[in-house]
Amino acid sequence: MNYKIALIRGDGIGPEVVDEAVGVLNTVAEKFGHQVEYVDVLLGGCATDAVGKSYPDGTAERCKTCDAVLLGAVGGPKWGADKPAEQRPETALLALRKDLGLYANLRPASLRPAMTDACPLKKETADKGIDLMMVRELTGGIYFGKRNKYQTEDRGMEATDLMAYSEQEIERIGRRAFELARLRRGKVSSVDKANVLETSRLWRNVMHRLAAEYPDVQYEDVLVDNCAMQLVRDPGQFDVVVTENMFGDILSDEASMVTGSIGLLPSASIGDGAPGLYEPIHGSAPDIAGQDKANPIATILSVAMMFRYSFQRAAEADAIERAVDAVLAEGWRTPDIAKPGEKAVGTREMGRLIREKVNMI
Ligand code: NAD
Ligand code: IPM
Ligand code: MN
Repeated sequence: MNYKIALIRGDGIGPEVVDEAVGVLNTVAEKFGHQVEYVDVLLGGCATDAVGKSYPDGTAERCKTCDAVLLGAVGGPKWGADKPAEQRPETALLALRKDLGLYANLRPASLRPAMTDACPLKKETADKGIDLMMVRELTGGIYFGKRNKYQTEDRGMEATDLMAYSEQEIERIGRRAFELARLRRGKVSSVDKANVLETSRLWRNVMHRLAAEYPDVQYEDVLVDNCAMQLVRDPGQFDVVVTENMFGDILSDEASMVTGSIGLLPSASIGDGAPGLYEPIHGSAPDIAGQDKANPIATILSVAMMFRYSFQRAAEADAIERAVDAVLAEGWRTPDIAKPGEKAVGTREMGRLIREKVNMI
């Protein structure tokens, strides 16, 4: 097959982890006889520096000419919250997700077999296994509601961010969750704050309607604060966790750490048409950028998700996942997952080891 892939390297460790993921992508493509063409797309702080805007004109259109998008990470202190919105890297990422219609963000958090020692939870909890799929709504809610900031008469400045959800937005993400659960262990946990928020009460009503349509899927409501607690008490209880945009952002970082490191967790952002966007869940990690310390596995596993969800190529995805597991099983660790005193390898060496294993599988 021929695949055309947009590459958004981004800021901080973004280019470092994307380089290793592209190396693995090329190795897999060669092994399975695919041709890959890359289109570089500028987005984020690096775009602000180059052209004065974090989301240059025509970005979404360039991505739409491709079969999938691979993104490293964007952001950094140089382009902080004090900058105008059009110069902030995060604004660009949100605009791209919206313009590509990527409403479903799949964030699988699983404790890989060789990583049980990296799980910070009690041994008995880790031994039970963790394999959950966070399904985060990605183009609605408080991330996209109207914002305002104004001077009050007697309380200084005041700011507002509107959280809004329509039934249609909730239903389409809910269906994704139920469909995914059917292919997994058949359980959906819907996370909300229905004891306080009107958006959550609407969310819950729609989810209950869907649950009746999927009687073969076990369904439960979980309040978000309880979910945060359950994720560290007994994460093995979860299969598919579906939730709104901001809750999903926060809970997926928490779930990542439970499985060892944020440097391990990939994601797929998909809508109803091509192209999907694949990116690690972590950010640009300015504290370790440019030091060959970043763990490239989250981005490499995002390439596996690209093969699985955009190209319907399970064998290629499996080859990448098996190569990652084999390298971890041999004890190779980047600094984020190394035990104290244990020798770690750098970003580039981890990428090389995984490419080598792909070729051997
Ligand atoms: P972060 O995820 O960048 O980093 C948090 C911590 O995790 C840091 O200590 C970092 O060193 C570590 N870390 C992250 N990825 C790692 C990896 N692959 N290997 C090893 N360690 C890793 O979160 P932050 O520091 O809160 O945010 C930094 C910037 O990234 C901000 O500008 C934020 O807006 C942006 N951000 C971007 C994305 C994205 O592009 N999708 C996601 C999250 C944050
Ligand atoms: C993520 C990030 C983004 C988000 C930021 C950078 C806009 O934290 O992809 O998890 O909150 O969605
Ligand atoms: Mn996040």
